[in-house]
Amino acid sequence: MPKKFSVVSRFIQYEDYNHLPDQYKQLTDHALAAAKNAYAPYSKFRVGAALVDSNENLYSGNNQENAAYPSGMCAERVALFSAFAQNPDIVIDSIAIVALGAKGKVSAPPCGSCRQTILEYEVRQNTPIKVILRYDKGIYLVANSIEDLLPLSFTNKYLGT
Ligand code: THU
Repeated sequence: MPKKFSVVSRFIQYEDYNHLPDQYKQLTDHALAAAKNAYAPYSKFRVGAALVDSNENLYSGNNQENAAYPSGMCAERVALFSAFAQNPDIVIDSIAIVALGAKGKVSAPPCGSCRQTILEYEVRQNTPIKVILRYDKGIYLVANSIEDLLPLSFTNKYLGT
C-alpha cells in the first residue's frame, strides 16, 4: 500500500509591516528603496531585494528587464550575484523581497528560479538564509530557510560530483 508522504513548510507570520521586528523592517525598507530603481518598463512590476550578511553589510538588487524578455533578470538574483561577485566569502543572514505596484508595496513571493538560486548560496555557505517576503493582504512571512519555500529541492548532492 502506498503511504502518505508530507512535507511541512514553516513560516513566521506578521500581520503587517508595522508588526515586523526592526531588523526586518530595515531590510524591507532597503528592498523597497531598491525596487524604486528597478528597470521594468515592460512589466511595470518593480521588485527590490535586500540582503544582509553576518557582518551586517547590506546588498541590494532590483529587476532589470530587456526588450528581448528572457534576457532580463529578477531582483533577487541581481542582489545575490552582485553580493557574491564582490565578496565570495560572505555568509548571508537574510533576504527581503518587496515589489512595487502603482499604489505602493505589493506581494512578492520569489519565483522558482530565484528560490533555486537562494538555495545554491544556502548550500554554499552551509548556513540557512532567512527569507522575508510580503505576502497577500500585506502580511509578511518569514522563512528560516529557503528550504521552506523549496521542498524536495535539487542540490549538488544529487549530482554526485
Ligand atoms: N520578478 C522578480 O524580480 N523577482 C521575482 O521573484 C519574480 C519576478 C520580476 C521579473 C520581471 O521583471 C517582473 O518581475 C515581472 O515578472
